[in-house]
Amino acid sequence: MSAERAGHTSVVLDGKAVRDQILGELRVRVERLQKIRRPPGLAVVLAGRNPASEIYVRNKVKACEQLGIYSEKHTPPDTISTEELLAMVERLDAREEIDGILVQMPLPSQVEARRILTAIRPDKDVDGFHPVNVGNLVANLPGPRACTPSGIIELLKRYRIPIAGRHAVVVGRSDIVGKPMALLLLHENATVTICHSRTRELAAECRRADILVAAIGKPALITRDFVKPGAVVIDVGMNRLDDAQAAAIFGTTPARTLIGDAHPVQIPEIAGAYTPVPGGVGPLTIAMLMANTVRAAELHTGCCA
Ligand code: GUN
Repeated sequence: MSAERAGHTSVVLDGKAVRDQILGELRVRVERLQKIRRPPGLAVVLAGRNPASEIYVRNKVKACEQLGIYSEKHTPPDTISTEELLAMVERLDAREEIDGILVQMPLPSQVEARRILTAIRPDKDVDGFHPVNVGNLVANLPGPRACTPSGIIELLKRYRIPIAGRHAVVVGRSDIVGKPMALLLLHENATVTICHSRTRELAAECRRADILVAAIGKPALITRDFVKPGAVVIDVGMNRLDDAQAAAIFGTTPARTLIGDAHPVQIPEIAGAYTPVPGGVGPLTIAMLMANTVRAAELHTGCCA
């Protein structure tokens, strides 16, 4: 059924607008820190030359500049060993003016990612990936939370989308998005289902969702058949398409080559609200990284904590 025939209008959840709101609130806190003590400091480590990671890191550094957060970028070669990267993290851990350390994922395959993430001091772990912070998340204790899922909760709250008592379905079980997303929704009193590559009857599971979060990394997997009419669809996917794939999804000449996990034509026709790609979830991840960095600086300086 087309949008017109159904008289259907769906709300576009504008991640850029929410990001700007969050950054506006953070700017005040950064100015206060600058005046009383020192600016927050973030170190970003990008090992190797993954093109997508390079764009993410560039945007993170740019957001720091816009907010007045001190940032530095470390770009070791993709041949770096686990021991060398550990030494780099330990040097950053020891520096007083560095409040947050972000090691961009994925790491080169020879690096033992788990050892790197565990070496970052939990109070400087602005990604919320350290096992101590994962434990705090599970126990619903204070601590930095993974940026993408916490950005999605901010988006839902600022659009006044109720979560408590709703059925949330999270598709994807990654440590970065799926698992922390499910826990944050649970702490907001949603009834939560986690689906993954071995889930049976995926479309039927998804159709039970009032809030559907797609974090799978498969372009346009979530089609109309996966969505209950009026549901909220949150699309975490960022997939690059070649021209043939884009033509298959958009029909005629390819309109776009960057799409999410949700079908960009069908979802607006059935969802009550949805996040676009780009411009939905992506900007929120960076806003929450900034929020985690400012919070870490407040705790480290004893200002406004
Ligand atoms: N790679 C994809 N998303 C993220 C993220 O939120 N943090 C880091 N460090 N790497 C990522």
